[in-house]
Amino acid sequence: MNATLQSAAADALTFDDLSAGYGDTTVLRNVNGSVRAGEVLCVLGRNGVGKTTLMRALAGFLPLMGGRVAFGPLDLARRPPHARLSAGIAYGPQEDIVFTELSVGDNLRLHLRDDDLSRYARYFDAFPRLKERTAQRAGSLSGGERKLLAFTRTLALEAPVSLLDEPTEGVQPENIDRMSGLVRMRAEAGARFVIVEQNLSFVLQTADQVLLLDHGAVVAGGPIAQFPREALEDHLAV
Ligand SMILES: Nc1ncnc2c1ncn2[C@@H]1O[C@H](COP(=O)(O)OP(=O)(O)OP(=O)(O)O)[C@@H](O)[C@H]1O
Ligand SMILES: [Mg+2]
Repeated sequence: MNATLQSAAADALTFDDLSAGYGDTTVLRNVNGSVRAGEVLCVLGRNGVGKTTLMRALAGFLPLMGGRVAFGPLDLARRPPHARLSAGIAYGPQEDIVFTELSVGDNLRLHLRDDDLSRYARYFDAFPRLKERTAQRAGSLSGGERKLLAFTRTLALEAPVSLLDEPTEGVQPENIDRMSGLVRMRAEAGARFVIVEQNLSFVLQTADQVLLLDHGAVVAGGPIAQFPREALEDHLAV
């Protein structure tokens, strides 16, 4: 970890008054949130409310129309995606998550300077199907298995901040529980997570904080213990 990361290690990822959209259309308006070291923030909202737009804005793939994004003392609002990754912010998008023509192994090696897949041992233990299929084309995986591959690649970066957009979409329940366990393990080690999620049991197992979005705005947020189950259910896709 470099000096900048160390100084930011105890700090929060914060976004405030954030607005973003496409062309002339503003999708997100004045959205606020933060996630501290060791915390998991789950973002909930029905289809089309702007969850992915928020993740793209935090990851730097969509310019802000207004507001601020910072990691500790680092102002990230005008930094491109690669600079945010260097600052310790990893992003696992909702779609187009694997290179289908490459093998599973090469998907896991692409960003590495060496060939060593041993760093994935913990993930291969949790998801043996991935290990069995390292030599096969990633395009031969099911949608849920591709999600596991992308999740594994992102989590194994051991970034101080991970932004995960619907990581459990199409994943089998037992593997969803394992994903939750792996996220909690990283959080206990001090990592921060912002996770867009539609799966209530994953949210209940994993989140410290929730942010409920509707029509591009925050309708509620805070420690998950403050929210009755029905209040969370109201903000999940039916
Ligand atoms: N590239 C784009 N260009 C124009 N409008 C877009 C674009 N991407 C998304 N939108 C619009 O922005 C709004 C929010 O979309 P977004 O993908 O952020 O929603 P979401 O909450 O992630 O939905 P889902 O639950 O389906 O993933 C929608 O009205 C969508 O049509
Ligand atoms: Mg989305």
